[in-house]
Parts: sequence; C-alpha cells; structure tokens
Amino acid sequence: MSFALLNIIDEILDISGEMAMKENSENIVVIGSGLMGRGIGQAFATAGNSVTLVDLNLQILEQARDQIRKSLSFHSASGLLNESVDEIVGRIALETDVKKAARDATYVEEAVFENLNAKQEIMKVIDEASVPECILASNTSSLPITAIASVAAHPERVIGAHFWNPPQLMAAVEVVRGEKTSQQTVDRTLKLLRSIGKKPAVVQKDVPGQIGIRLLYAMIREATWLVENGVATPEDIDTIVKEALGTRLEVVGPLELADLSGIDLVNNVAKGGLYKSLDSSNYPQKIIQDMVVRGDVGIKSGKGFYNWKDGSRSVDATIKLRDEHLIKILRERKEKGES
Ligand code: NAI
Repeated sequence: MSFALLNIIDEILDISGEMAMKENSENIVVIGSGLMGRGIGQAFATAGNSVTLVDLNLQILEQARDQIRKSLSFHSASGLLNESVDEIVGRIALETDVKKAARDATYVEEAVFENLNAKQEIMKVIDEASVPECILASNTSSLPITAIASVAAHPERVIGAHFWNPPQLMAAVEVVRGEKTSQQTVDRTLKLLRSIGKKPAVVQKDVPGQIGIRLLYAMIREATWLVENGVATPEDIDTIVKEALGTRLEVVGPLELADLSGIDLVNNVAKGGLYKSLDSSNYPQKIIQDMVVRGDVGIKSGKGFYNWKDGSRSVDATIKLRDEHLIKILRERKEKGES
C-alpha cells in the first residue's frame, strides 16, 4: 500500500474518531462551580458536551448557571456561538451529590478550593464512584498532581488540566502528568481539549507552578524588584510589559524570540551582567510583605500596587477590556476557521 494511501486512511480514521466523539459527546462533570468551574463547564457545553456542575448546594449552582447564561449572552452578541444560549444551557445539569454525578462521567474536572486535603477527598470519592475508563482531572494551579492522585486506586487516570482564567475565553490549558499518569490518559485529555477548541500544552514533570505560573511569577518577582528599587513606577512597568512584550508575545514565544535575536546574543547579554543583576529572592520582597500587613491586597481591599477606589481605575472596566480583547482574538480565529 502506498504511503499516500496510508495517510488518507489515517486521516479518515482520525476524522471518524473525532466525529464519534462529537456524536457521542462526552459526559463531563465539573466539581466546584466557582470562578473556574463554571467557565470550564461553559467551555465544554459550548462545544456540544453534556455537563454536570457539582457544588455544595443548589443556590451556589443556580448562581453559577446564571453567570454562565450571562457570559454566553455576551459571547452570542459577539458572534462566537453557533447555537442559541438556551440550547447550550440546556446541556448543563446541576447536582449536589458528587458520587451520583461521577457514576456516568467520561471526564471529571475538579475545581474546588486550592487545598490538598479538599482535593484528595474529592479525588477519593470520584475514583471510587466513576467507571475505570473515566479521566479524573484537577484544575490545580500549584498542588502536585502526584499528591492529589496518591489517594486514588487508579492514579494512572489522574491528570492535571489547568485552565487559565477566564476558562471560557482562554485557549491555553496545561496538561500535567503526575508520576503515575498513563500515556493513554494524556492522549485522551489532549484530544478532548482540542475538540473543544483549546490549545493544550503538556507539562512533562510535575514541578511547582507548571509552565505559565513559573513564567508569570518570574516576571512578578522582577517587576516588584524594579518598583522596590525605584527603577520605575508600577504603571510604567505595566506599560512596557503590555506594549513591548505583550503585543509580540501573543504570536512569538520567548524561545522563538531567542532564536530570532540569536542565541549568541542571548548568551552575551546573559553573561554580560544581566543575569547577575536580575532578582533572585527566594522569599516575597519586603514591599509585598508590607502591603499584606497594611491590608493593601489589591482589588479585594481597593488598593495594591494601584489605587482601585479613588476613581482612577475601575475593576469592571479592566475586566471588560480583558474580555473584549479575548473575544476579539477568538472571533478572528473563528473567522479564519482555526477553532
Ligand atoms: P472558587 O472559590 O471561585 O470556587 C470553588 C468552588 O468549589 C466553590 O463554588 C465552592 O463552593 C466549591 N466547593 C468547595 N468544596 C466543594 C466540594 N467538596 N464539593 C463541591 N464543590 C465544592 O475557586 P476558583 O478560583 O474557581 O478556583 C478553583 C480551582 O482552580 C483552584 O484549584 C484554583 O487554584 C484553580 N485555578 C484558579 C484560577 C483563578 O484565577 N481563580 C486560575 C487557574 C486555576
């Protein structure tokens, strides 16, 4: 058989696999319907899957569904949906019994509080209640998947699937391999996430902060150093990140940038004094600790690096700006047929 023919057969098998997945649609269970859980549920339901949201009581769940409806209406008005809001919301069920919800699930994503005990408790219940083929994913941003999986009888099907906020709009998902996660679990999770239009990346080793949070905190540490040492104001630092780094980083990653600049240049800049001068604190700097002591913890208190209560900045306007920007990107991708 020719190579070209084999390729065509492969493609047909792949397409029919995708179609089978769409036709059958997955039975997704999301545990915790807070900021992340409801957005994750929304993303799966929008792509045609049945979703069961689980939380501690019906009132929280109904509020979550109202939020999803509101968000979907915004997406609909922005031309992102192929169906009506009611059709999508109609695929979302609410449940307070974790065991009952997990029984028929093909994929469970836990998004409860960032607390190891809480996550292990949930993991134990879903591991016992679900069928062996079901994937058990955690949205943890900082806890080791291996530790969460340690309470499961089948740790090979436990995986990290770390969505970014807002999960209904951000395409990135970090798929984190625990020590015992099987290749089949990784492959099925990647396929499922791609089928809902996400752009997953695999984190091969379960390191603190995965990929994105490590990079972000390297930047927060350095930005804090710049403020603390009077090099620039928070506003000027954020301007440079948004206007110099951000606009390019959207299409060219830091390692692509390194190749574009030249590795010899990177080597020279790094050893020519820059690396030595970069902050390497292994504890939060004094200004961060002082802010916490003063209660200046950001939008929650109205003040952090910026003042959010004197009328100079608005939380709602900032979130609106972020969401409109993300929607613009998704609409452009949809128009190009990319998702
Ligand atoms: P959240 O506090 O908004 O929501 C947590 C939800 O879990 C609440 O609705 C709570 O009632 C529910 N819950 C708690 N225990 C439960 C139980 N035993 N059974 C069912 N529901 C239960 O938290 P958020 O921000 O959505 O975070 C959830 C997870 O996602 C955490 O692991 C967090 O680290 C991670 N994450 C958060 C991001 C963020 O920007 N907030 C970004 C990426 C990941």
